[in-house]
Amino acid sequence: MDILNAYPDRPGNRPIYTPPNGPPQTDRVPPAVYEAMREDNITAYFHAFYKRLSQSSIAHMFPKSEKNLLRAADKSAAMFTFLFGGPHLYQQRYGRPMMRARHLPFIIDEPARQEWLRCFKETLDEAPEKYAMPAEHTQSVWKFVYDFSSWIVNALPESEDS
Ligand code: HEM
Repeated sequence: MDILNAYPDRPGNRPIYTPPNGPPQTDRVPPAVYEAMREDNITAYFHAFYKRLSQSSIAHMFPKSEKNLLRAADKSAAMFTFLFGGPHLYQQRYGRPMMRARHLPFIIDEPARQEWLRCFKETLDEAPEKYAMPAEHTQSVWKFVYDFSSWIVNALPESEDS
């Protein structure tokens, strides 16, 4: 047993990096986003986002089969239902959010975050037209994910981690 390796699922041996400023203080997304989109549009949004992720340079982190990919997307949709001002669906189904901890099995460095954000932004750009997201609030959604995703980063870029 290697007591220094608390995350045996984490590929490779890149050390865990903790962003020095702690969790960012982010503004809430206005609940009008949930009111307009509801669960069905939020789920459709996350299906489209995860399909983009499955074709991105970080596809290796996500489930291969379509069924499991969409199941993973549904988990994120449950979390974002709450983050967009709706009910605590994720907490009811899966327990405490612990978002940073739940991402630790994956190597997430700044380039990976930027790729995740690129896929998010492409989906966001079509959200008012396709998923009933109020156009006046897309900027607030973007600011939230941009800021909060910095706290999910848990590895330095490969060139800097030794
Ligand atoms: C705003 C920031 C983010 C939020 C709110 C978020 C939310 C979530 C949630 C709710 C889950 C499901 C966790 C579980 O129940 O196990 C999840 C899984 C995951 N997230 Fe994130 N995430 C964020 C950023 C990122 C970033 C930046 C990356 C990678 C670059 C990432 C990669 C993943 C992966 C690989 C999974 C596991 C997928 C699977 O189920 O196989 N996330 N995320």
